[in-house]
Amino acid sequence: MRIVLVGPPGAGKGTQAAYLAKNLSIPHISTGDLFRANISQGTDLGKQARSYMDKGQLVPDEVTNAMAEDRMSQADAAGGFLLDGFPRNVGQAEALDEMLKSKGVALDAVLDLEVPEDEVVKRIAGRRICRNDSSHVFHVAYNQPETEGVCDICGGELYQRDDDNEETVRTRLEVYHTQTEPIIDYYREQGLVVTIPALGKVTEVTERAMAALKSDEG
Ligand code: AP5
Repeated sequence: MRIVLVGPPGAGKGTQAAYLAKNLSIPHISTGDLFRANISQGTDLGKQARSYMDKGQLVPDEVTNAMAEDRMSQADAAGGFLLDGFPRNVGQAEALDEMLKSKGVALDAVLDLEVPEDEVVKRIAGRRICRNDSSHVFHVAYNQPETEGVCDICGGELYQRDDDNEETVRTRLEVYHTQTEPIIDYYREQGLVVTIPALGKVTEVTERAMAALKSDEG
């Protein structure tokens, strides 16, 4: 399956993607995680991305599209993938359509995670991620690690993302409403959007998403 996950910052895209990708045996491709890996490795791409991410703005399309295409062209993504955080504006969605068309494949579904804004602010404020792997995500109240400050999965140190401060979060939400939300209508016109209410336990949201994908197949 080829799936896009969309939703505001803090909606739970990364959290759900980890479970859905495992259930569906497809790789989880997060452009945010790819940028953060480049930042921690000190690459030129990371340095370029950081200046935008720290302000909560989108990294320019030409950089993002090239990085996403490169990752989607790797062998493990040949049979499908779950995209998290890409595309993030209509230009990226059009570029993705072109990439897929050139390979003779298409998207199967776009899962739109729906969460009220006051909840996403709470989720972001309490989020802690692992220094070793930013896809290892916890929350100080909703998804506590067994030992405070330590990743349950690999033992790495948990920290708060640099862009999870109040001012940057405000900009990220604004960027989401103005630039990312229009892709929902873009994909709705293609009949691909499935809205998933994303309040409730992580496992309940995963079940809703899996049920929606199954009924979409049938
Ligand atoms: P990115 O890393 O993609 O961040 P984001 O979209 O802002 O999304 P988040 O990672 O903040 O949230 P999430 O929805 O994954 O939530 P999570 O699962 O962690 O992008 C960061 C930056 O990179 C962008 O601002 C931009 O600069 C750049 N970038 C990335 N992609 C780009 C692109 N395509 N083009 C240009 N620039 C790009 O969950 C949040 C918290 O809630 C966690 O603590 C979790 O434990 C908790 N939680 C999750 N589910 C639940 C639940 N059901 N109940 C209670 N708590 C929950």
